[in-house]
Amino acid sequence: GPVKLLQQLVYSYYAAYRRDLPWRDGIDHYRVLVSEVMLQQTQVDRVIPKFTVFMQRFPDPQTLAEAPVSDLLAAWQGLGYNRRALNLQRAARMMVEQWGGSIPDDPVLLQQLPGIGPYTAGAIASFAFNRPQVFLETNIRAVLLHFFFADQEGITDKQLLPVAEAVLDRENPRIWYNALMDYGSDLKRRFPNPSRRSRHHTVQSRFEGSDRQIRGAVLRL
Ligand code: ADE
Repeated sequence: GPVKLLQQLVYSYYAAYRRDLPWRDGIDHYRVLVSEVMLQQTQVDRVIPKFTVFMQRFPDPQTLAEAPVSDLLAAWQGLGYNRRALNLQRAARMMVEQWGGSIPDDPVLLQQLPGIGPYTAGAIASFAFNRPQVFLETNIRAVLLHFFFADQEGITDKQLLPVAEAVLDRENPRIWYNALMDYGSDLKRRFPNPSRRSRHHTVQSRFEGSDRQIRGAVLRL
């Protein structure tokens, strides 16, 4: 069915075009959390260099919890929304004080941290702990709109969430979301205008056949 086809397409694309991102190598829960907060409102290419320097300066929750605010804001320069940095430090203090410097894997607990909403909690649970959580972000939305809501406008998260749940590879949530986000990121890059995006096929022509199959299958559902 269309779900398996979409998974195959996204994984084939990932096998050929995956991005190496500094928070993807190794699996450090704290690195994943910091990266997801930075990525909330800032694009990947802008985050990468900031993330690398930030991690050298604040390598663990303890260091971040104890850092002078002036150091913190200096390291946050260029990311914008300083409030996110202050929330991140408060979150680090909660980790140290409540969880012995570790990060909880339960999205309900993650959402108790300042600056962590349901989607960021889902992303952290999926990327850091490989838990099959359903969440949306801009690249995921782009893929789901392209395949399942082509040429429709005003689609809400409420409509997208059950689709995100249906396509989630529950055996491999970490790899799935990496692959899905890379696909969505390239889809947006190739076709910045959403209404034109839906009329095109996949981001690489060698996968166009799969794209038509999936969209055709979905239309027959
Ligand atoms: N946007 C939000 N989280 C991301 C991630 N882990 N990888 C790439 N883009 C993202």
